[in-house]
Amino acid sequence: MNSGRKLHFWILVFLFVFSIEEAIDAYPQFTCGSHGIKHDINQTGDLPKVTCLAPSQTVHLDANVQIECEVISSTYANITWFHNGKSLSEKNKSFVKIDRLSCGQTLKIKFAGREDRGQYTCAATNKFGTVNKTCSLDVRDKSYKPPPQVEYVKIDGNRQTAYLHGTVTLKCKLLHVEADAWLFNGTRVSHGGRHKMIRETTNAKHKRLFALKIINVTEKDEGRYTCLAYRSGIYQTKDLVLKTEPCPSCHHCPPEGNQAFPICSSPSPSPIRLSTSDNDHDPKNKEIKHPPQVKYLKIDGKRQTAYLHGTVTLKCKLHHVEGEAWLFNGTRILHDDRHKMIRETTIGKHGGLFTLKIINVTEEDEGLYTCMGYRGGIYQTKDLFLETEPCPRCHHCPPEGNQAFPISLLPSCNRGRSFHRPDSVSILLFAVLAFSSIKCD
Ligand SMILES: *[C@@H]1O[C@H](CO)[C@@H](O)[C@H](O)[C@H]1NC(C)=O
Ligand SMILES: *[C@@H]1O[C@H](CO)[C@@H](O)[C@H](O)[C@H]1NC(C)=O
Ligand SMILES: *[C@@H]1O[C@H](CO)[C@@H](O)[C@H](O)[C@H]1NC(C)=O
Ligand SMILES: *[C@@H]1O[C@H](CO)[C@@H](O)[C@H](O)[C@H]1NC(C)=O
Ligand SMILES: *[C@@H]1O[C@H](CO)[C@@H](O)[C@H](O)[C@H]1NC(C)=O
Ligand SMILES: *[C@@H]1O[C@H](CO)[C@@H](O)[C@H](O)[C@H]1NC(C)=O
Ligand SMILES: *[C@@H]1O[C@H](CO)[C@@H](O)[C@H](O)[C@H]1NC(C)=O
Ligand SMILES: *[C@@H]1O[C@H](CO)[C@@H](O)[C@H](O)[C@H]1NC(C)=O
Repeated sequence: MNSGRKLHFWILVFLFVFSIEEAIDAYPQFTCGSHGIKHDINQTGDLPKVTCLAPSQTVHLDANVQIECEVISSTYANITWFHNGKSLSEKNKSFVKIDRLSCGQTLKIKFAGREDRGQYTCAATNKFGTVNKTCSLDVRDKSYKPPPQVEYVKIDGNRQTAYLHGTVTLKCKLLHVEADAWLFNGTRVSHGGRHKMIRETTNAKHKRLFALKIINVTEKDEGRYTCLAYRSGIYQTKDLVLKTEPCPSCHHCPPEGNQAFPICSSPSPSPIRLSTSDNDHDPKNKEIKHPPQVKYLKIDGKRQTAYLHGTVTLKCKLHHVEGEAWLFNGTRILHDDRHKMIRETTIGKHGGLFTLKIINVTEEDEGLYTCMGYRGGIYQTKDLFLETEPCPRCHHCPPEGNQAFPISLLPSCNRGRSFHRPDSVSILLFAVLAFSSIKCD
């Protein structure tokens, strides 16, 4: 029993020593001392190696600043700090010294003030001597005004050019400005006509978005646009060169934007060439004979508005088209759950009805609907402004149509709001209707 315990003890001692050796083997280069100083066990009899790190740029007033001192020493070492040659004791309220396990020391300065500017010296002392490393800190004062800055200038919508006859928006982000301006080829652009300037402040008070909108873009708008930021006699600028391009063929470029929407039902890379023979050297000849045509655009059922929650059909008659599209407020409508597009070829190859069915109409469907016919680089459009209205009182509007059917059984419906003494028949009918689900109010 006794010898068994002894054996047990020695096994434990062995394991303990072994695990310490393992730990040392895992980090053979150095260990960290009680003050977080690295003991370089490769070196013997040498001065400590010291690195001092402070923010390289001027810090703001009241900023939290950290100055770091990294020390590698073969033996135990102490760190002392000096500020402009004077020893820093931890009693100084705004200073906190933190010894880190990563073999260094951090000096934290809370709410940095002008008095904290200057030279910080980190002195590391081991038994072989002292090494000083100094780094400097600069703190801005209260009256400091950051210079004006143009963060970026770009064309809105991730575009590189502007489509002719469209509207392009140039965006500029400004910081710390008193005044701003847009220049075109070096001349100041003024608000008005085809140029609109829009200023938007952001959540951060010192930032501002400054946009220049150019409406109905022409080739003469090509050139260098400069966004200028100004403050207290200092200014900064950033440039952008704007180029224009025509709307690509088989595309629609709405005048209120800088986008191109494909409109050909069967995309073909060169529709003009397809429609001309090899002998025909003027491809336009054929197109001019039969330009695309939008004959009419109307609401189905001789209606002027659409009933809310109903289904409205917009009818468009097209002639000589290769492609067609429906636009809502200038944006192409895609076939989806609430929008059904139906093409009906009626008269020969070149004539057809192109309808748009809007299901479960909401107030948000109000706006400008455009029917467009396209052929060989030419397009024609017709517009219609759709308005909605709720189903009238005492009417039933079935969800699958755009009609209102009078529910005339109720006396109050027949005679408007005036009240007449009801006879017994209508009282009975009223009772019947009250239990049915037809709503009449
Ligand atoms: C210590 O010496 C080893 C081998 O010579 C080397 O790989 C290692 O980087 C040295 N450690 C330090 C901290 O210089
Ligand atoms: C280190 O800097 C302190 C304060 O500036 C100074 O008193 C000391 O003499 C310096 N020591 C060495 C070795 O440079
Ligand atoms: C820090 O305190 C010492 C005395 O404790 C004083 O001499 C020194 O000026 C103080 N430094 C700052 C920056 O307040
Ligand atoms: C480190 O500092 C302590 C107390 O401040 C001092 O007693 C000790 O001698 C110092 N060691 C070295 C190597 O300077
Ligand atoms: C756009 O400008 C052209 C001339 O460049 C003009 O003919 C056209 O009417 C203008 N369009 C609009 C919508 O102002
Ligand atoms: C603006 O400058 C560009 C080149 O920098 C030039 O091609 C263009 O014609 C100029 N436009 C005007 C209106 O001055
Ligand atoms: C119609 O749309 C409304 C929301 O606008 C929705 O609550 C309702 O369920 C829809 N009705 C049908 C038949 O889809
Ligand atoms: C469409 O345009 C009309 C006016 O032109 C506007 O009242 C409506 O809010 C627009 N609708 C949408 C969804 O953009």
